[in-house]
Amino acid sequence: MTKKYSLTLLPGDGIGPEIMAVTVQVLNVIARQSDLQFDFEEALIGGSAIDATGNPLPQETIDYCQKSDAVLLAAIGGYKWDNLPREQRPETGLLGIREALGLFANLRPATILPQLIDASSLKREIVEGVDIMVVRELTGGIYFGKPKGIFEGETGEKRGVNTMVYSESEIDRIAKVAFEIAQKRQSRLCSVDKANVLDVSQLWRDQVVKMSKNYTDVELSHLYVDNAAMQLVRSPKQFDTIVTGNLFGDILSDAAAMLTGSIGMLPSASLGATGLGLFEPVHGSAPDITGQDKANPLAQVLSAAMMLRYGLNEPTAATKIEEAVMKVLDLGYRTGDIMSEGCQLVGCQAMGDTLLKVLDN
Ligand code: IPM
Ligand code: MG
Repeated sequence: MTKKYSLTLLPGDGIGPEIMAVTVQVLNVIARQSDLQFDFEEALIGGSAIDATGNPLPQETIDYCQKSDAVLLAAIGGYKWDNLPREQRPETGLLGIREALGLFANLRPATILPQLIDASSLKREIVEGVDIMVVRELTGGIYFGKPKGIFEGETGEKRGVNTMVYSESEIDRIAKVAFEIAQKRQSRLCSVDKANVLDVSQLWRDQVVKMSKNYTDVELSHLYVDNAAMQLVRSPKQFDTIVTGNLFGDILSDAAAMLTGSIGMLPSASLGATGLGLFEPVHGSAPDITGQDKANPLAQVLSAAMMLRYGLNEPTAATKIEEAVMKVLDLGYRTGDIMSEGCQLVGCQAMGDTLLKVLDN
């Protein structure tokens, strides 16, 4: 029996449409080879939505997403929209969709691929074998806490305010996700906070410790965020799964991504309580290479694999895509961002064509 999935595609801005096109081709091959059927619906977000509607996240886009089984997002943003007021910026669309869909758990794997090890800025012996999963809380913390804003006091001096706040239930639900992911990995979880200074972090730590009683098979450790940043670049192999809040996770996941030397290869998943997830590359919209057929589509393709694995529970199809990506790298094909000596430089579409060929064999 054919299983039908309706997918909302949010190509967004910059290289988004180019890498999304390749990903749709890959999913169509997967559908042809299996009992899966994908119905695609495209919607606007970010700068392209601002241009078309004046709003970085039109209600129609939220409606499409809510009706679908999973959402694939490419990237948002670009120079053109950089000077707009905050509520009209592309980033506001991204934060808005996370909030609207209740996507509180953001999974950002940072895995060193043996074929790309020399692309890392760190020494081979330090990064070889690195396989980290950063679990970032995504709909709370200082990104969303209130009060927020720029306020003018009685003296006329302005004050900029954001509030870092986590409730017990917000911490519990992200901790639960992280413990369960750690169980499926090497059963080591490192919780990152700033409990030596911040009250909100003290509560975070207390709750994570409480939650750990339900997961006695997982080895729990704690690091302050500054030390965690240092340890990530000093000896990243000590980490298996990391769980942290929104802001610390934003920063640490970029550092973890860079360990691999190929941010253009990294997918991510954002999951909520309803089972509806959003899947997007870790990299941005790369306005400097937009429209030049230079983008690396593999992070987007691997995001589709994460969608199949974590969003639709179709691990066989996910593995198929992941294996095809590894094969293409083994064959020596590289886009500019991951190019190294002796390899063959290809563009975005050619990389896609190679993937399709590998999948067909
Ligand atoms: C990310 C990005 C976003 C964030 C921005 C674009 C709003 O940096 O997904 O990590 O800060 O969450
Ligand atoms: Mg970020």
